[in-house]
Amino acid sequence: MKSYRNPIAGPTRMNARLLAALKAGAGQWIMARDLGRGAGLAGLRLRRDVQRLRDLGFVIDEEPARFRLAHAPDVLLAEEIRGGLDTRVIGREVIVCERVESTNDAAWELARWGAAEGTAVLAEEQTRGRGRMGRAWHSPRGGLWMSIILNPATAADRATVLTMAASVAVAKAIRELAGCHATIRWPNDILVGGLKVAGLMVETHTINSPRETSVLGIGVDVNCTQFPEEIRTVATSLALQTGRDVRRADLARLVFRLLDERYLQLCRGEIAPVGEEWMAMSSTLGQRITILQNGRTYTGEVVDIDPEAGLMVRLDRGFVRAFKNEHVTVVK
Ligand code: BTN
Repeated sequence: MKSYRNPIAGPTRMNARLLAALKAGAGQWIMARDLGRGAGLAGLRLRRDVQRLRDLGFVIDEEPARFRLAHAPDVLLAEEIRGGLDTRVIGREVIVCERVESTNDAAWELARWGAAEGTAVLAEEQTRGRGRMGRAWHSPRGGLWMSIILNPATAADRATVLTMAASVAVAKAIRELAGCHATIRWPNDILVGGLKVAGLMVETHTINSPRETSVLGIGVDVNCTQFPEEIRTVATSLALQTGRDVRRADLARLVFRLLDERYLQLCRGEIAPVGEEWMAMSSTLGQRITILQNGRTYTGEVVDIDPEAGLMVRLDRGFVRAFKNEHVTVVK
């Protein structure tokens, strides 16, 4: 991997192997010597690292010569997300910030410094999170706000195929981890119960190399329970849908794994499988919709979704028109 000075993250001091060993036996007592073996530690160093986890909010019960993980808080820790992650590209470097204006901006900053493809930036909170088409993105604590630097070698329309691959990864991860029936509303929304629970956006520029760089931004309302007035009737969170908190670190790791598989497919030129998965999870196919594009509205029925051409709509005027996702809003 290229070496670069990370301009935004500070050092962290959490022992990921120890946490993995504690989590593997969560709720059960683990003998200190077994824990130490799993974490590559013994004696005072084991106690020191247990204390560091407690300082981060982990509740670890202790009896003579044994420990038990009683509660893992919903904190984002780069080491925990990276720990055991066997992806080839996505999340090969993970940076967690406490508060940034936008993780997309932080990712662009890192890309300019030469950060590797697949580098992911997450933040507990964004103060100027942004959505597509210049909209603001409400980003309080409790959400999963993250951006990934990508540089795919694909002949297809990048924004379209990356949005598709990421939508499938996020929707699948939500289904698997939260048990909610997540669907995809073209071009970039993930819905649960008809309400928006996540949004994605792809920004593309040329920075250091002749090949363009993209930043994929993903925002998931995980444990947020309050929404501003203007989105209250259209937004939801996983916590509101399931009645329980979902651990964001687990969701981030699963999204990385699912996205990595699909990203590698796209880079091999295999676009059709991602398109098929996308269709199977789509709530848009077969729907009557109205699209706003460059100030004009178009109404019709969605007859196909093509990974390269975009959304194919049989307009009420009779002919089929393709809409790429960049400058399009689905109004209903
Ligand atoms: C949309 O639905 O309009 C896309 C929303 C994308 C929001 C995410 S949150 C992480 C990343 N940082 C940002 O500022 N935006 C994206």
